[in-house]
Amino acid sequence: NTDRVQDRAARHPPRTPEDLRSHRWFGINDLRSFGHRSRMKQMGYAPEEFTGRPVIAIVNTWSGLAHCHAHFPQRVEDVKRGVLQAGGFPVEIPVMALPENFVKPTTMLYRNLLAMEVEENLRSQPIDGAVLMGGCDKTTPALLMGAASAGLPAIFMPAGPMLRGNWRGQVLGSGSDIWKYWDERRAGNITDADWEEMEAGIARSDGVCMTMGTAATMTALAEVLGMALPGSSSIPAPDANHPRMASACGRRAVELVWADIVPSDIMTPAAFDNAIRASAALAGSTNAIIHLIALARRCGVPLALDRFDELSAGVPVLADIRPSGRFLMEDFYYAGGLPALLTRLRDRLDLTQRNIDGRSLGEILDRATVWNDEVIRPLDKPVSTLDGLAVLRGNLAPDGCVMKPSAAEPRLLQHTGPAIVFDDYNQMAAAIDREDLDVTADHVMVLRNAGPQGGPGMPEWGMLPIPTKLVKAGVRDMVRLSDARMSGTSYGACILHIAPESFVGGPLALVQNGDMIQLDVPERRLTLLVAEDELARRRAVWTPPARHYPRGYGALFSAHTGQADSGCDLDFLQAAGQIAEPEIH
Ligand code: FES
Ligand code: MG
Repeated sequence: NTDRVQDRAARHPPRTPEDLRSHRWFGINDLRSFGHRSRMKQMGYAPEEFTGRPVIAIVNTWSGLAHCHAHFPQRVEDVKRGVLQAGGFPVEIPVMALPENFVKPTTMLYRNLLAMEVEENLRSQPIDGAVLMGGCDKTTPALLMGAASAGLPAIFMPAGPMLRGNWRGQVLGSGSDIWKYWDERRAGNITDADWEEMEAGIARSDGVCMTMGTAATMTALAEVLGMALPGSSSIPAPDANHPRMASACGRRAVELVWADIVPSDIMTPAAFDNAIRASAALAGSTNAIIHLIALARRCGVPLALDRFDELSAGVPVLADIRPSGRFLMEDFYYAGGLPALLTRLRDRLDLTQRNIDGRSLGEILDRATVWNDEVIRPLDKPVSTLDGLAVLRGNLAPDGCVMKPSAAEPRLLQHTGPAIVFDDYNQMAAAIDREDLDVTADHVMVLRNAGPQGGPGMPEWGMLPIPTKLVKAGVRDMVRLSDARMSGTSYGACILHIAPESFVGGPLALVQNGDMIQLDVPERRLTLLVAEDELARRRAVWTPPARHYPRGYGALFSAHTGQADSGCDLDFLQAAGQIAEPEIH
C-alpha cells in the first residue's frame, strides 16, 4: 500500500544511532541525561553497552503462576544472547502474566489491561524495539495489540506447544479430552483413580495447550500475520529448536529497529485476510475472531464480523488436530508445521505479504513441505467438508453470533426446539445434574448474562454441559446458545458471542422457557419464534441486572468494553494512530 511505503520513507532510514528513541534519554548531554546514564551505571552497565545501540525490551509474560510460560526465564537468556550478538542492548520488562487456568473470572477481562501495560511500558521508557514473549491464550493478542498501539518495531516470540499428553499409553489433548472424559466420569464409566492419573499426564511439559485451542490458533495467526518468524509458532516448547528460535528473535529485533519496521507495516489488511483463511484451515478457536477484530482496529484495519464468514467459506479444514481432528501440535510440527499447511492454501493467500524476517509469504512457502498427509491433509481429503466457522444473524442476534459447524453433530445444524433458559452460570450449574430437570435432547439450552459485561469478561462458558440425565442416556451434543465465549478446545453445537449481550438488554434477555428457537446454519439464521409484539411487551418490563463492580479495573472495563462483534476492546483504546512521544524533562 503506497501510503504505508511513503510513511516509511518519511521516517528516513537508513537510521543512525542519533535516530534511536533511546538516544533522547542517553545520547544527549544535559541534566536529565546525566540522571539517565548515572542510573544505568547504577545497574553496572558502561555507557558503551547501552548508548548508540538499539535498546530491546524483552517483554515477558512470566510469573510464578504462568504454567504455560514456565520456560520463559531461560528463553529470556536466549533472546538476550541474540540481541547482544546483533549489537543491541537487551532489557527485560516483566508484564502481567495471564495464566489461562488460574485467572478468574476469566483472562479475557484482563486482555486489554495487559495490552495497555505493554503499550505504556514501551512508550514511556528508553526502548527502541521489543521481543514480545507470549503464547498462553490472551497473552498473544494483548502483546500484539499493545505493540501495535505503541508503534515501535516488535517481533513476537511464541511460547510453543507442550508435548503430547499421555495416559496409559493413550494420547491426551489439552482441554478437549478432559471435557470428553468428564462426561464419561459423570456417566460412571471412569473411576476417581483414573481421573487422578489423567491429571498427571495431560500437561507434562513446558508450553501452551497442544490442541488447536486459542493458544495454538493465536500463535499460528501471529505468524500468518507476519509478526513471528516463519515456522516458529509450531516448535514445541521443549524442543532445542525453540531456544534457537528465541535467539533469532533477539537478533531480528535489532535489525527491525535499524530498518524502522513497525507492526502496522506488517499487519496490513491483506495480512488479516490471510490470517482468517488460515484460521479456517486450522479449524481455529472462535476466540480468534474477537482477538483479530480488536487487533485489526489497533492497526487501523477495519475488520467486520461478516468478513470471517465470507473468507472462511469453502476453505477446507486441513489440520487434523484435536478438537476437530485426531492429532496434536507436536505431530503438526513433525508434519512440517504452519508453513507446510499454508502451502496447501497458496491459491487463497496473498503471497506478497511480508514476514517480519523480510521475506514474502511466497518466498517462505517455496521452502516448505508437508511431510505427513494424515496430519496436514491434501485439499481433496479434508478433515471436514463442513465449514469451520459460520456467522449467524437473526432476531436473537442482531449484531451477529458465531459457531463452528464442523465441531457439531450434523443433525443439529438445522434444528428447531423449545428453549430451556438459565439466567446465569450458577443457576445452570445448580440445575444441570438434577434428574427431574425438564429437558430433552431436542431442547435448545440458553445461558445468558455471560457476555463482556454480564460474565463479566465474557468467560468460556459457551459449551454448556449436557444435562447429566441426558449424558447417561447417551446424548453428547445439543444446541446451546449464549453470549459467552467457548474454549478453543471445546466442541459441540454451541452458538457463541451473541451480540448485543443479554446483560445490556440484547434479545437473549427476552427468551422464556418453552419459546421455540430455530437454528438454520446453511441459511446463517438464528431465530426466536416469538411474535414481535410479544417481544416488545417483554422488553418493556425488562430491568437491567445490577452492575458487577463498584470500583476498580472491573468498573473501568464495564464502562468501556465493546461487544463481541467489535472485539471487546475498550472504546478509548480502539483507534489506530499516533500518540505524541513523551517529553523528556
Ligand atoms: Fe495456557 Fe491453554 S492454558 S495455553
Ligand atoms: Mg483456552
